[in-house]
Parts: sequence; C-alpha cells; structure tokens
Amino acid sequence: MVRKRVAILISGRGSNMAALIEAAKDTAYPAEIVLVFTNRPGAEGIKRAEAAGISTSMMSDANRSREDFERVIDDALAAYDIDIVCLAGYMRLLTPGFVTRWQNRMLNIHPALLPAFKGLDTHARALAAGVKVHGATVHFVVPEMDSGPIVVQGAVPVLDDDTAETLAARVLAVEHRIYPLALRLAAEGRVRVVDGRCIIDGARAPPGSFVVPDL
Ligand code: GRF
Repeated sequence: MVRKRVAILISGRGSNMAALIEAAKDTAYPAEIVLVFTNRPGAEGIKRAEAAGISTSMMSDANRSREDFERVIDDALAAYDIDIVCLAGYMRLLTPGFVTRWQNRMLNIHPALLPAFKGLDTHARALAAGVKVHGATVHFVVPEMDSGPIVVQGAVPVLDDDTAETLAARVLAVEHRIYPLALRLAAEGRVRVVDGRCIIDGARAPPGSFVVPDL
C-alpha cells in the first residue's frame, strides 16, 4: 500500500492534528502526516507536531495578501509532494483558486452538524437554538465557507445543564474520532463525490446507534 502524503494546516492548539498524527502512527493507516503548516508561528499545535517528529513549516500571514500567502503554502505543499490537505482549526479563509486546485483533496473539520451552525461560536449558538443533538462534520472544502460535500459526521446529545464549554468538550471527543476516520476513507479512495454528496464505498449504519440521552 502506498500511503497518501498529508499536510495539516493549523492556527491553534492542534488537538485534531494530534488525533490525525496518532492515527497515522499505525503503518496500516493509509495516510502519513508529513507536514504541519501554520499561519500563526506561536501556535501551540506546532510544539506538539515537533514533539511527534513531524516536519513543520510556519509563516505569519500578517500584512500579506491572501494570494501571496497562498504561494508560500503552495511551495510548502509542493516541496513535500502532498496528496491530501487537512485543515484543522486553520483560521484563515482560502481563495477560490487555491480551494479549486485542491478540490476533493482538502478536508476540514467543523464543530457542528453542517449545514447547521456554520461559522464561529457554534456551541453557544446550538445551545441558544435549543437543539437536542449537536456534533461535528468533516467535509471536503469548497470556496464557500463551511460548505462542501460531507464525508463523516458524529453526533452528541445536548444536555439541559450544558454550557458552551461542556458541549464543546463532548463534541471535541467526537471530532478526534471522526477526523481520522474521514481521512482514512479519503486516503483509501473510498469517497466519491456525486452531485455534491459523498458516496462512501461499503458504509453501513452501525446497529442500534442512537444519540438520545438516557431517560
Ligand atoms: C475544532 O473545534 C475544529 O472543529 C475547529 O477548530 C477547532 C480546532 O481545535 N475547526 P484544535 O486546534 O484541533 O484543537
């Protein structure tokens, strides 16, 4: 098996990056993490990537146009011969040109069940809306923010005494499970995009899977 070469783009703490690195330690995993790039040189996640022995590249995007900055990213991705890009808490919008070049080869994780709650503060907004189920989504990136074909979603119940913080923690645990799963499926070539939807070869519903709370 030829493992896909993956770059992860981060701007912050990097816990999803760490989950991907952990999954890829298994040599049977179909992707290897060869580069972590950040637009925030102080990002906590960079230390974690270095500790895991992954090559890192950093460049502040302050005072740089989007196009100039993306040339820097392009060069890094080309230098490492990258097949798949994973955005993991990467807090800068990418140009349509860049996104189109990586069409169906660039994943993002969003802390809500898309298409609900695009954008920021998803947990507070889910609480305010009174939804009973919340979760996270891994999707292919398209030019429109937090849109694009959905690869995997994971759901959690919302409890009456949740705060944005407790809900975020419950969702984060799901993020750390679904991102390695989605990358595995994409790296195995099991994800086909048809009419804006992902068709996953061999996917079945797990038996008896409910996300309602214990009542
Ligand atoms: C995660 O909640 C992710 O869904 C969102 O940004 C956060 C990044 O967290 N896109 P981390 O840096 O992976 O810990």
